[in-house]
Amino acid sequence: MTVNVVVTGAAQGIGRATAELYAERGARVLSVDLRLPPVLKGQHRLKADVASRAGRGRIARAAEEKLGRVDVLVNNAAYQQAHGSVLEVSEAGWQRALDVNLSAPLMLLRELTLLIPQGGAVVNVASVQGLFAEQGNAAYNSSKGGLVNLTRAMCLDLAVRGVRVNAVAPGAIATESVLAAINASADPAQTRRDYEDLHALRRLGEPGEVARAIYFLGSPEASFITGVILPIDGGMTASFMMAGRPV
Ligand SMILES: NC(=O)c1ccc[n+]([C@@H]2O[C@H](COP(=O)([O-])OP(=O)(O)OC[C@H]3O[C@@H](n4cnc5c(N)ncnc54)[C@H](O)[C@@H]3O)[C@@H](O)[C@H]2O)c1
Repeated sequence: MTVNVVVTGAAQGIGRATAELYAERGARVLSVDLRLPPVLKGQHRLKADVASRAGRGRIARAAEEKLGRVDVLVNNAAYQQAHGSVLEVSEAGWQRALDVNLSAPLMLLRELTLLIPQGGAVVNVASVQGLFAEQGNAAYNSSKGGLVNLTRAMCLDLAVRGVRVNAVAPGAIATESVLAAINASADPAQTRRDYEDLHALRRLGEPGEVARAIYFLGSPEASFITGVILPIDGGMTASFMMAGRPV
């Protein structure tokens, strides 16, 4: 049976790699993003804002029309621009981070519930920053921390329907946005080494490495796994030590 998948935030980075992996492995994919995701042969794509009710309504209609059934929902879209400490972050930035990163996965799940069959799965893309906080990134940390526990709440509440819910918590992944941030820093080579040193494996992750974990969690191979937050972080969260120190 063909697997039908909705991936949000699929125009680039981890979301794009995930949509591509599902397509390569024979799934039917609806890719969603604020801008039109790239064409994947034979697949569907939609421009929509997951944080707006109208956007989610359009996603649900497209999912029903194009896929008919949603076996896997991948909540990957995120707003990562609300930088600032707890004292500094703007109210608008805080709100947008919560709307996109925390509320949208819940509301989109509700929109799609009737399309998700028994045996279906949800994979939320959280972050190591949902497990621990980074100084000066209060909104993102809080939204991802909320998503971590929302994943557990979804697991418990959807288990009766036979739907599994898990999350991945990536470390620093070499996506367009992370590479752009590194390149915009005063010393890109040093900044990259600093990021690399956060991980026991001393390198950045690749988008495909996160995509493969998402694929696994959404598949029948993970049939007895639900409510799990899986770090895809090269060992970052295995250590309590700081960047650059021995792990
Ligand atoms: N890259 C990393 O190092 C890293 C680390 C930990 C967690 N993550 C998480 O992984 C996911 C993907 O990260 P990435 O680096 O590929 O991100 P990215 O910023 O490169 O891509 C995110 C995509 O989501 C889309 N998007 C944002 N808001 C949206 C909205 N309201 N509606 C629809 N689409 C929207 C953006 O347009 C973009 O294409 C995010 O949830 C992010 O928080 C990434």
